[in-house]
Amino acid sequence: MNLFLTDDKPLLLLAPMAGVTDLAFRRLCRSFGADGGVTEMVSAKALCFQDKKSHELCPIADEERPCGLQLFGHEPETLAAAVGHVARHRPDWIDLNMGCPVHKVVSSGDGSALMRSPALIREIVSAVSAATPLPVTVKLRAGIGGVVNAVECAVAAEEGGADAIVVHGRTREQMYAPSADWEIIRRVREAVSVPVIANGDIDSPEAALRAIEQTGAAGVMVGRAAMGNPFLFAAIRAALDGRDLPPPPSVAERLRVARLHIRDLVALKGERRGMLQARSHMGWYLKGMRGAASLRERSCHLTTLEGLEALLEEALLVSGEG
Ligand SMILES: Cc1cc2nc3c(=O)[nH]c(=O)nc-3n(C[C@H](O)[C@H](O)[C@H](O)COP(=O)(O)O)c2cc1C
Repeated sequence: MNLFLTDDKPLLLLAPMAGVTDLAFRRLCRSFGADGGVTEMVSAKALCFQDKKSHELCPIADEERPCGLQLFGHEPETLAAAVGHVARHRPDWIDLNMGCPVHKVVSSGDGSALMRSPALIREIVSAVSAATPLPVTVKLRAGIGGVVNAVECAVAAEEGGADAIVVHGRTREQMYAPSADWEIIRRVREAVSVPVIANGDIDSPEAALRAIEQTGAAGVMVGRAAMGNPFLFAAIRAALDGRDLPPPPSVAERLRVARLHIRDLVALKGERRGMLQARSHMGWYLKGMRGAASLRERSCHLTTLEGLEALLEEALLVSGEG
């Protein structure tokens, strides 16, 4: 069965985001209607060296499946070996990062640097596909270094055996602005026969419908718009299914979900690490609420679940809904 080809409805996936899409956030988004997600990117080389922090990024919970595990690297044999190191986490597919624009990653030849060599892309996908019975996907950008060659890279990935291709419609140099170019996604979709997933600026039900219409993609992948807003998946899911949109969440509902999310984060990572990461999530949840500026400032100093509870109480009071 091809995970990425549904007969009827377009797929709705949570995009991989380092520092954001850990297990707690992925399962939350899944509960709101995402069809699946992808782990944060994990270094293939570090996995092979048994790096503890890299291995900690890999666990996948049953209730969030299907979930892909994303590897980054540039050596075909290292990437293929890494697949063996993550097998015990039973990922539903392996995703290969070919889009990361960060200098440190690109200067090592990883992430979007791979788009300089479609031949290497073919070789990597072929080595990884030979090392695992799981589906293998690649996540590309539009291009790198002034060259928009996502079509060529996608064709190379398909020749190497890729089962689906995600395209973020921006070049490496564009990082996260200006707006994504969905036209390049359409061109990739026309050039390959495997499913293509559209990514970049899908931040509302309307945008998801437009992206599917403009690109003909088999699905959409949502990144930044999901931060502090897992509710977006319920709205996009309804739009893709042709149903009425659910009402937007009340402040009380947003705070209730933030509490659940952060509790889960702390249960998984312990209070110290969990609360450090909770600070950015709280900043996103509080965005747009009454009194947000001072609440967000205070959320930057959170260290305990007790402190979080007090902040949530106050946010509810300030909102006038409490
Ligand atoms: C904080 C952050 C971390 C990211 N980390 C990853 C990553 O680990 N792997 C990856 O393939 N893309 C990563 N991305 C890119 C996103 O998956 C996505 O392609 C990009 O944000 C465009 O989609 P959007 O407009 O919906 O946000 C990251 C993006 C952000 C903002």
